Amino acid sequence: MSKARTAVLISGRGSNMMALVEAARAPEYPAEIVCVVSSRADAGGLDFAAANGIATRAISHKDYATREAYDSAIDVYLRSMKVEAIALAGFMRVLSADFVAGWDGRILNIHPSLLPAYKGLHTHERAIADGARIAGCSVHLVTPELDGGPVLLQAEVPVLPADTPGTLAARVLRQEHRIYPQALAWLANRIIEDRE
Ligand code: GRF
Repeated sequence: MSKARTAVLISGRGSNMMALVEAARAPEYPAEIVCVVSSRADAGGLDFAAANGIATRAISHKDYATREAYDSAIDVYLRSMKVEAIALAGFMRVLSADFVAGWDGRILNIHPSLLPAYKGLHTHERAIADGARIAGCSVHLVTPELDGGPVLLQAEVPVLPADTPGTLAARVLRQEHRIYPQALAWLANRIIEDRE
């Protein structure tokens, strides 16, 4: 069985990318991480990927005049790498509708809230400010609507009385690292079945 060739797109520390790379070491895991693309050349995650023998590429939006031109540059690179699935992992750029359409049903994102609650940024600050008792994370398929695609998997954590956004984020992040590999395995298996 050949594995689903997967790109991970990051912008920063890349801990979810690392969790996917670690999961993909298992011989029976259905996805292979073939490249890591970062929107920032200084993303910490790039060093980890390179040290693990994964192709890396920094593609900065600052080098492109429009969102479409930027997305097209990413698209060209991913297609040159024969990518079949994309995992967004802390990738801080909104992808254009054309890009998303070109990868329909093959892009995953991890978001640090129980969607549809708290789309966008500062999810933990907002949950604490609202007095939420439960927080969590979601893996969803990417559609043109920001954080709006169908949810595949979620995990809940309690919000504790003494929580700060930082302590809550750390509790949620542990669950992100658990569910993202599961969700990518689901998509990869679907891609492999589609090939046959
Ligand atoms: C995670 O909390 C993820 O849910 C959000 O951005 C953060 C990225 O963290 N989309 P990392 O770069 O994967 O460590």
